[in-house]
Amino acid sequence: MRQQLIERTVQFVKEQLDGDSSGHDWFHIERVWATAKSIYDKENTGDLLVIELAALLHDLADSKLFDEAEGRQNIYYFLEGEGVSESIIQHVLQIVETISFSKGEKPATIEGQIVQDADRLDAMGAVGIARAFAYGGAKGQVLYDPTKPFYKRTDQKSVSTIHHFFDKLLLLRESMNTEKGQTMAKERHKFMIYFLDQFLNELDEARNYSKQE
Ligand code: ADP
Ligand code: NI
Repeated sequence: MRQQLIERTVQFVKEQLDGDSSGHDWFHIERVWATAKSIYDKENTGDLLVIELAALLHDLADSKLFDEAEGRQNIYYFLEGEGVSESIIQHVLQIVETISFSKGEKPATIEGQIVQDADRLDAMGAVGIARAFAYGGAKGQVLYDPTKPFYKRTDQKSVSTIHHFFDKLLLLRESMNTEKGQTMAKERHKFMIYFLDQFLNELDEARNYSKQE
């Protein structure tokens, strides 16, 4: 019964996200789902069913993809149709809302905190770098713009994809809720710094070379 519910949720999410190119494709969901389970294994607390359902459904009410109210209803009717209890449905919806509405809020329950860590970890490290450039490409955003300083912007829009690292991705390490999330975030943060160092060094090399000519 439980296994069947998870399988049917996977199918539902795949149908809803079909063809997305903004970094919210099925494989993002699959990674968040797997990471959430691995954090749960380590933390050994919370309701695994709620964690799995929330990880799988977390982007279906994201305002970047769907109308928030419609997305919420869609999730509600799906879970209700599957015979999931009202209290689990409400818990999952509450997690999805705090996570996908980009409010920067800490979810109230450990289940939500685990899924939020897993979602944020997917924006970090090698995968996070790949997603950032994929997103930038899809939006027609430039790779970098050396004429604009790197400071944290208060609005959502980044000057360039490299700027997005300074606006958001380098801040994620400090926002982890769980110990396992913190450990994973440290590694992924290190890799992003390594990447940025190399990227900015290559720009300097190119700039110094063109000065010599
Ligand atoms: P999620 O819904 O998974 O929490 P977002 O919707 O904020 O995350 O972003 C999806 C992906 O696109 C993330 O990997 C994020 O870093 C990336 N992204 C968002 N905004 C930008 C941007 N301005 N430039 C480059 N990448 C971005
Ligand atoms: Ni997500």
